[in-house]
Amino acid sequence: MEEQPPRHGRVVLVPCPFQGHLNPMLQLGAILHSQGFSITVVHTKFNSPNPSCHHEFTFQPIQDCLSPDEISSGNLVAILLALNCNCKTPFQECMTWMTQQQKPDDRVTCIIYDELMYFAEAAANHLKLSSLILCTTSVATAQSRVAIRQLKEEGCIPWPDSMSQDRVPNLHSLRFKDLPVSIFGVPDNFLDLISQTYNARTSSAVIWNTIDCLEQSSLEQQQRRYRPIPIFPIGPLHKFAPVSSSSLLNEDTSCITWLDKQPCNSVLYISLGSLASIDETEVAEMAWGLANSWQRFLWVVRPGSIPGSEWTESLPEGFREIVGGRGCIVRWAPQKEVLAHPAVGGFWSHCGWNSTLESISEGVPMICTPCFGDQRVNARYASYVWGIGLQLENKLERKEIEMAIRRLMVDSEGEEMRHKAQNLKEKVEICIKEGGSSYNNLKMLLEFMSF
Ligand code: UDX
Repeated sequence: MEEQPPRHGRVVLVPCPFQGHLNPMLQLGAILHSQGFSITVVHTKFNSPNPSCHHEFTFQPIQDCLSPDEISSGNLVAILLALNCNCKTPFQECMTWMTQQQKPDDRVTCIIYDELMYFAEAAANHLKLSSLILCTTSVATAQSRVAIRQLKEEGCIPWPDSMSQDRVPNLHSLRFKDLPVSIFGVPDNFLDLISQTYNARTSSAVIWNTIDCLEQSSLEQQQRRYRPIPIFPIGPLHKFAPVSSSSLLNEDTSCITWLDKQPCNSVLYISLGSLASIDETEVAEMAWGLANSWQRFLWVVRPGSIPGSEWTESLPEGFREIVGGRGCIVRWAPQKEVLAHPAVGGFWSHCGWNSTLESISEGVPMICTPCFGDQRVNARYASYVWGIGLQLENKLERKEIEMAIRRLMVDSEGEEMRHKAQNLKEKVEICIKEGGSSYNNLKMLLEFMSF
């Protein structure tokens, strides 16, 4: 993008307080800041971002009133509904205060909120400010969430086991088992969240962290649905944003030194993101599958991701000795740097949307183990639509894991997926270069926001 942009107004960002949502919102903030906008991040106290990683932003906390029980429940849908209810008044008060204090040359011009933080829209309307939505999951996910409501009304949800492999009408690539239902099934509060998120909105535009070359036909359908509200697909945001970290956990950079010593394409990187957990039995199966595959690996075991363990205590006895220097285990990695490292030849992922975009952007093929929600949709796209991954469909079992790792890292099948992943990476590079779709859409967004 152009150098030395003129100064524009102040944009207020309202991120959803989970890692997979904070990252794209702060990346968008960094892009807008580099283009002359001042940025204020209004955030909940729960999972608050670290201001010291973004000196260029102003941070403004608001009360979220989440109880410790709500936070520890792990019920994301309930937490999101509570946040939308609890934050509405504090946010409105905060915005009123901000607009009263503002100087004429530093006025709030718009609010950009995560699609799940819809409480921000009401405050924007109240203050007669324009608002824009940031969608941090794929378009296919948005479409399948909307379809869930209708399928439920038609009595197709819950579906019998015998229908799991059947295609969902009007969502051609997805099977029923790929639908992004929550871990708690489809309770009324999930439908409520979907309705609130995808019902007619009054915001003036939608910014989407996706890429035309990945989701062209879904984007066209969505554009028709939202018309006249424009959609700006400007992903992958991390490729436009100046490099900075918005990790809620400390990144262990020692794994990069370890990667530096490994041969090209030899390491399988393993991470299940910031929310998913796995039980002790699954961990043991993963560990033995890895050990028996005889491949090198870098494994992120997030503290608390194995219920009942603080960190890696529940790894099977003898595992570390057997794998020796072939494996490296960390609590949290600088993932984008890891995926861009030449030693990394595969990514065993839960297929969160950010991880999927980051893997595609570096041309790394995947083993897909979706845990819940939109991860199922992304895994299906990675394996079936884009052909850059293989999906572990059944219960985690060591023999199947060992075979999947060898298929990806050693066999010609993996080589073919690596080739397709490289092709897709090149397409993404074209989209973000001058004249490419994301580049042009970003330019149009900046023009849209400058009026
Ligand atoms: C959640 C949902 O689970 C996901 O499905 C949805 O699409 C977004 O919100 P999460 O599970 O954390 O996100 O997955 P993902 O979207 O992949 O985001 C994780 C982020 O954390 C990525 O940007 C990744 O780079 C980063 N990360 C992960 C690290 O920086 N270090 C790590 O060790 C692991």
